[in-house]
Amino acid sequence: MCGIVGYVGARSVVDVVIDGLRRLEYRGYDSAGVALVFNPDGADSYLEVDKKAGKLANLEAVLAEQDRSLEAACGIGHTRWATHGVPSDRNAHPHLSADGRVAIIHNGIIENFGQLRAELEATGVEFLSDTDTEVAAHLLGREYAVDGDLTEAMTRVCTRLEGAFTLLAVAADDPDTVVGARRNSPLVVGLGEGEYFLASDVAAFIAYTTEAIELGQDQIVTISRADGITVRGFDGEPSEGKPFSVDWDIAAAEKGGYDTFMAKEIHEQPQAVADTLRGRIDEAGQIVLDEVRMSDQDFRDIDKVFIVACGTSYHAGLVTKYAIEHWTRIPCEVELASEFRYRDPVLDRSTLVVVISQSGETMDTLMALRHAKDQKARVLAISNTVGSTIPRESDAVLYTRAGIEVAVASTKAFLTQLAACYLVGLHLAQVRGIKYADEVSAILDELVAAPGKIAKVIEHLEPVREMARNSAGKDRVLFIGRHVGYPVALEGALKLKELAYLHAEGFAAGELKHGPISLIEEGTPVVAIVPSPRGRSLLHDKIISNIQEVKARGAKVIAICEEGDAITASHADFVIETPATPTLLAPLLTTVPLQEFAIELATAMGRDIDQPRNLAKSVTVE
Ligand code: F6R
Repeated sequence: MCGIVGYVGARSVVDVVIDGLRRLEYRGYDSAGVALVFNPDGADSYLEVDKKAGKLANLEAVLAEQDRSLEAACGIGHTRWATHGVPSDRNAHPHLSADGRVAIIHNGIIENFGQLRAELEATGVEFLSDTDTEVAAHLLGREYAVDGDLTEAMTRVCTRLEGAFTLLAVAADDPDTVVGARRNSPLVVGLGEGEYFLASDVAAFIAYTTEAIELGQDQIVTISRADGITVRGFDGEPSEGKPFSVDWDIAAAEKGGYDTFMAKEIHEQPQAVADTLRGRIDEAGQIVLDEVRMSDQDFRDIDKVFIVACGTSYHAGLVTKYAIEHWTRIPCEVELASEFRYRDPVLDRSTLVVVISQSGETMDTLMALRHAKDQKARVLAISNTVGSTIPRESDAVLYTRAGIEVAVASTKAFLTQLAACYLVGLHLAQVRGIKYADEVSAILDELVAAPGKIAKVIEHLEPVREMARNSAGKDRVLFIGRHVGYPVALEGALKLKELAYLHAEGFAAGELKHGPISLIEEGTPVVAIVPSPRGRSLLHDKIISNIQEVKARGAKVIAICEEGDAITASHADFVIETPATPTLLAPLLTTVPLQEFAIELATAMGRDIDQPRNLAKSVTVE
């Protein structure tokens, strides 16, 4: 969380930095700030800092009132997701050193800040904020005063910091230098013609260049128009980053005619899932995961699978458990990443740990993956972000290719994670010869048909919108499901909580009678995810009973069911039909109406769809 941008080059620095922050606002929007270094002809260079609590627009309003006749020579900008200290002007970044000569911005948490703060205060330093970041500002100012070299100063400071941090800094008397450092937190470099960018994410500079360098762990980078880019380690030794080209463009980062990014991303799902599958099933019906860097023998050696993830990605993991166990007969556990390492799970060389992370930067998931690797388990990442930390540190990776997801609430990332997980499950089944080839091939045909069916669901969302608007005055909405419908219920509830700030809860339908049914009163909306009446008809019958139970207590039931399911239609108050598909693949379809339900209900309540309160898209703290 927190988005950071730095720039040196001939363009308007303030415009580049603000434009970058706008594209990174999904990472946090509690406050924003910039530090610009000006270098007027014939006068000493100087530093100006502007920062404001609230969304970026508040900062823009401040900047709009200023004299823009002189362009800055370089600058840095920050959009904050508060960790230490409330969102306020004084806690907003950048923070200045005591002598005002250097300004710094930060993403992450400096874990030993308490000790460093005490040490600095003992020497008379006065703190102006409650942030952990300010210790880095004072330390940097002190080190910069030693030799006036910002890179050297940053190197010395980094050796004193513990925790997770990306730092960017500028100095008042060095108008051609921005220095960055990273540990456990993302930082990429953008390479233009005589101009350089530093940012948390390529989205910040994609309007200007698609050429980038990914920095490694514990690296420091200096960008300068005169000297280009230099990279070194925290130990001061010269080093280098890894060049890559970004394969999407600015259009992907725009709303493209939709009211919100989330609406756009919901509509992109058929294409996104098709992209996940593209080239990964050959003409003979074999799943080809060559890029994953795991041999067939590696897959054969696995005797247990753990799936570890957070939030929506965790829900994708829950669905996958049903698929993997059914298709491969390998035991599969799903764990919340934030809990995983603390309960000392039993892992060894024959355990496959699948970490799922859209951003590839989620700290809880990263720590879980490191724990798994320490225990010698093999780690496969499913991620949407090429070159991010989680895929980089994993033994193997399968990218979901969803394209950039800007809305904080995840939609297309979830569906593409499901598609990628299905591929892994079916590949395991193929290489281990557990399932008959024709069975796997029948499921693969259905998987390939899924994008078309998702498109069909999207075309018929108007009744969902109407139901959502009808539910707008309610104080709670419950979601129930069985089997893979249970994680879908959890996901539907999470979307509604995030977007509408409403009490929404997902339950395994059979659990209701063990307690939660007491939440139901006259008119409570209950969304039921109903499995196909074909196939596992037992499941279908059971959920019909659950629908009857809640209706008997006054609930208004909205059922998501397969087209032509007359039994459900005769019991539910409202019905949303989805095309027929095998039960295990149904979440690819049944999730979509729930996404739309959340967006519409939240819109009716006047909520901010793309940037719900208190959230950030990339959660880089534990
Ligand atoms: C919910 C949502 C979050 C993320 C979670 C994990 O809509 O987006 O719950 O799924 O923070 O993020 P990643 O997948 O980036 O690790």
